Amino acid sequence: MSGLFITLEGPEGAGKSTNREYLAECLRARGIEVLLTREPGGTPLAERIRELLLAPSDEPMCADAELLLMFAARAQHLQAVIRPALRKGSVVLCDRFTDATYAYQGGGRGVSFERIGILEDFVQGALRPDLTLVFDLPVEVGLSRAATRGRLDRFEQEGRGFFEAVRNTYLQRAAAAPSRYRVIDAGQDLARVQQALDQLLPELLERCLA
Ligand code: TMP
Repeated sequence: MSGLFITLEGPEGAGKSTNREYLAECLRARGIEVLLTREPGGTPLAERIRELLLAPSDEPMCADAELLLMFAARAQHLQAVIRPALRKGSVVLCDRFTDATYAYQGGGRGVSFERIGILEDFVQGALRPDLTLVFDLPVEVGLSRAATRGRLDRFEQEGRGFFEAVRNTYLQRAAAAPSRYRVIDAGQDLARVQQALDQLLPELLERCLA
């Protein structure tokens, strides 16, 4: 594969979507083909799975069903969207990917990382993101930003302990593999976050043109 696979991670309210647009504009302005997508979702079928995953429901979803639905959506997304775009040489900017599964289903729900790793290998083969930007935010800031956006989805209804575990898992994964991750302080104002992204651009461009 010749493209570049970049994922954006972090809690709800960290500004991933805004920053993903910003990064896409910066790359496109330099003539680079960029595909914006997200998980769970990114294809019509995977978006339907997303609806199942996010909708609050009277029937509690067991952790394994949640995990398998995440990977079912991912399998479809990889096959229909991500792998073809990478084959074409595009930069894929994906809002969340398997690091979110480690953070939410692993850290948050307590599914073992080993079990997630088995599904990761099964669904992705050797494919891993080339670069993962973790937009880090104190839990209470993320929760209050998300609360202003209206009705809470099934994940947003979780409590503080869940989101502390999500945050810690992201930070631990970033610390364990610093060559793949960049942690960005998403608690700063937007201009400063974008300055941090600007600093990343030369490295990204070099990798795109390599
Ligand atoms: P968002 O993309 O609007 O933030 O919503 C997606 C939600 O799904 C978010 O709460 C994180 C959650 N999620 C997981 O729990 N596991 C995953 O693997 C992915 C991709 C998302």
